[in-house]
Amino acid sequence: MAQSATQLNPGKIFEVGFNFWTSKVLLTAVELELFTKLGSHSLTASELGNKMGLHPRGTFDFFDTLVSVGFLNREGNGPSAKYRNTEETAAFLDKNKPSYVGGILEMASQRLYRFWHDLPAALKTGQPQNEVRHSQKPLFEALYDDLPRLEQFMSAMAGISRGNFMALAEKFDFSRYKNLLDVGGALGVLSMCVAQKFPNLQCQSFDLPKVVPLAEAHIAKAGLSHQIKAVTGDFFKDPLPKADVITMGMILHDWNLPNKKHLIKAAYDALPSGGALVAVENLIDDERRTNTFGLLMSLNMLIEFGDAFDFTFSDYTAWCKEVGFKRFELIHLAGPCSAAVAYK
Ligand SMILES: C[S@@+](CC[C@H](N)C(=O)[O-])C[C@H]1O[C@@H](n2cnc3c(N)ncnc32)[C@H](O)[C@@H]1O
Repeated sequence: MAQSATQLNPGKIFEVGFNFWTSKVLLTAVELELFTKLGSHSLTASELGNKMGLHPRGTFDFFDTLVSVGFLNREGNGPSAKYRNTEETAAFLDKNKPSYVGGILEMASQRLYRFWHDLPAALKTGQPQNEVRHSQKPLFEALYDDLPRLEQFMSAMAGISRGNFMALAEKFDFSRYKNLLDVGGALGVLSMCVAQKFPNLQCQSFDLPKVVPLAEAHIAKAGLSHQIKAVTGDFFKDPLPKADVITMGMILHDWNLPNKKHLIKAAYDALPSGGALVAVENLIDDERRTNTFGLLMSLNMLIEFGDAFDFTFSDYTAWCKEVGFKRFELIHLAGPCSAAVAYK
């Protein structure tokens, strides 16, 4: 029986409706490098505010909001109280640590936050609401036209994907294969995570020409150039290099259905019999009820590309069966992310 308004509680409506306040506080803290500047120090509000170049009006409100949501620790109360990173912010949001994942939050703060303002227009028109709206160029060309934006995008991808790729290296047995091709490999992070665990696997990280020099430098810095080659190609113009296992991390969700099917067919053609295509994505649950992040990611694809979209495991298996893949496996990775495996 329906409850009357007096028995109901609008708390969750307000909580979600005002989530953007909390979100913007965290994104601003990352953008202004609060967690990096704090490092391993213990600072008062005025010391930390000075280090960050902040006006005193907002410092206590800003820092104490972060305390209240669990992203800063504070010892004491009032002006002499000292602020410290939490274990998580010290590990993941201090730029001086290799475990930094804030690149994706920097991009969320500087690009996506503004573009999501135009969600109503995206929903009414089906058109992207990002740089593409003004430049008329495809997103990757528009993004890659200026080096800082390309570097920011690469760091964003590394931040969001590293944990998933580490889980993939743990959970998928790559020892069955001699060589791996990572399609749209960006900085080569997937290849690096897998290569470190499987030293006999030869890897190729395939991406557009502007990305490859950045990938080469990243791979060399990790001392893995003997095992991973960064190769140039355009997956809509060139056939994919042959490999026993092909991975695609957040590639299929960037495209409309005909392009998704083109990529799946290109992978099928490049694999031997028994080879595997592994798609790493925030797969939406088959009933489209529970993976909120996957559903929001699909709306983000609307904002970024218009006709691109995220999908379910059953969508993926249906598209893969059309080109001849025979057997399928779903492996949960980290948080909302999974690996969808199709065997030829
Ligand atoms: C969403 S990013 C995913 C990066 C990485 N796989 C990950 O999961 O973190 C998409 C990648 O596809 C690459 N890409 C886009 N169009 C491409 C094309 N036509 N040929 C090859 N790579 C392309 C981009 O440069 C970018 O690195």
